[in-house]
Amino acid sequence: MTTSGYQSGFGNQFATEAVAGALPVGQNSPQRAAHGLYAEQLSGSAFTAPRHRNLRTWLYRIRPAAQHSPFAEVATKHFHNRFDEAPATPNQLRWDPLPMPTDAVDFIDGLVTMAGNGGPAEQAGVGIHLYAANRSMEGRFFYNADGEMLIVPQQGALHIFTELGVLDVAPLEIAVIPRGIRFRVELTDGTARGYVAENFGAPMHLPDLGPIGANGLAHPRDFLAPVAAFEEVDGQFELLAKFQGGLWSARIDHSPLDVVAWHGNYTPYKYDLRLFNTIGSIAVDHPDPSIFTVLTSVSDTPGTANLDFVIFPPRWLVAEHTFRPPYFHRNVASEFMGLIDGAYDAKAGGFVPGGSSLHNCMSGHGPDAASFEKASAADTSKPDHITGTMAFMFETRKVIRPTQQALSSPQLQGNYYECWRDLKKHYKGNA
Ligand SMILES: [Fe+2]
Repeated sequence: MTTSGYQSGFGNQFATEAVAGALPVGQNSPQRAAHGLYAEQLSGSAFTAPRHRNLRTWLYRIRPAAQHSPFAEVATKHFHNRFDEAPATPNQLRWDPLPMPTDAVDFIDGLVTMAGNGGPAEQAGVGIHLYAANRSMEGRFFYNADGEMLIVPQQGALHIFTELGVLDVAPLEIAVIPRGIRFRVELTDGTARGYVAENFGAPMHLPDLGPIGANGLAHPRDFLAPVAAFEEVDGQFELLAKFQGGLWSARIDHSPLDVVAWHGNYTPYKYDLRLFNTIGSIAVDHPDPSIFTVLTSVSDTPGTANLDFVIFPPRWLVAEHTFRPPYFHRNVASEFMGLIDGAYDAKAGGFVPGGSSLHNCMSGHGPDAASFEKASAADTSKPDHITGTMAFMFETRKVIRPTQQALSSPQLQGNYYECWRDLKKHYKGNA
């Protein structure tokens, strides 16, 4: 039974049932759950995590998650966590978009690992993947024990049927599927392409706002969790698990998307990036791009994220006497960027929707020569309305190590460094 709908809020204690009376009242695990359902707890944090970081959901389902045949490891070629295959590079890197596959490829088979750091064993770091798919997942389901998956569609909407309900996610929206939650991805538009951050560290949550105050950036009420929806289907299906970097396959004789009701705060969710409350300078100079943080995964070091998900949305630029595009910089953090839509205001060309770039720890980067010349001559007494754009960044504390397949990809632009070659020497000394 597929119902659709959403519940608003970030990390709320939601309660939802697809069949009336399926949720118990007053108890999580009554001796007999209503309608002959099984009660099962899904924990996304340590049992003893502080209350404001404690994540768990109680599921009331037709069969418990334990019921399936044993897993066997399957070979995966393109989707993995092998971040030590090639030397990490200080070179600035940029890739064209993945081409659409010519064979039939679903969301899981369409994942191509580009880069990453850390890993599931240490429960820190991030895997960065692209996907390009041209068919829905048929007869198989997937869960990721290694990390939560932040899915950033760039082309084609996704119909993501999870254990907890359905998320319909189109480009300019994102979805987050927590560690362990089983799901299937159907393609709404026939083909789909986008980016995935596989977060091995602490689950993402909204950043603290500090002096910004109680409002701003992404509003909690704009995050949407699904309402309960389930399917009661028997058959010969495959359950795929990502576990310690590998892919494992088990047979299952029913759909695992059979959760009739649930309550808790460990849920998949979606967010529309167009709702982001962008904040910027209204005087001079730039705040740091941390003001564009949508979600953050904290590390053990205060103020130093395992992963920040940052966006560069449409916005007004009004700072006077200021070089307005993103400035030249080098960071201790490492930055993997993607472009969902339009053009990015620091690059006049070469960075197209679906493309990617990587600027690692302390590697110099910034506007290309054409963008520098244009912005240096701009009249900053007038506002500039940046429209028709949506870029994003996965920013990590650890160096982002490209995979061998990313470094040998035909999409890698061998001449990216040349975008800064034509920056002129303007210095004239004291003459
Ligand atoms: Fe940067």
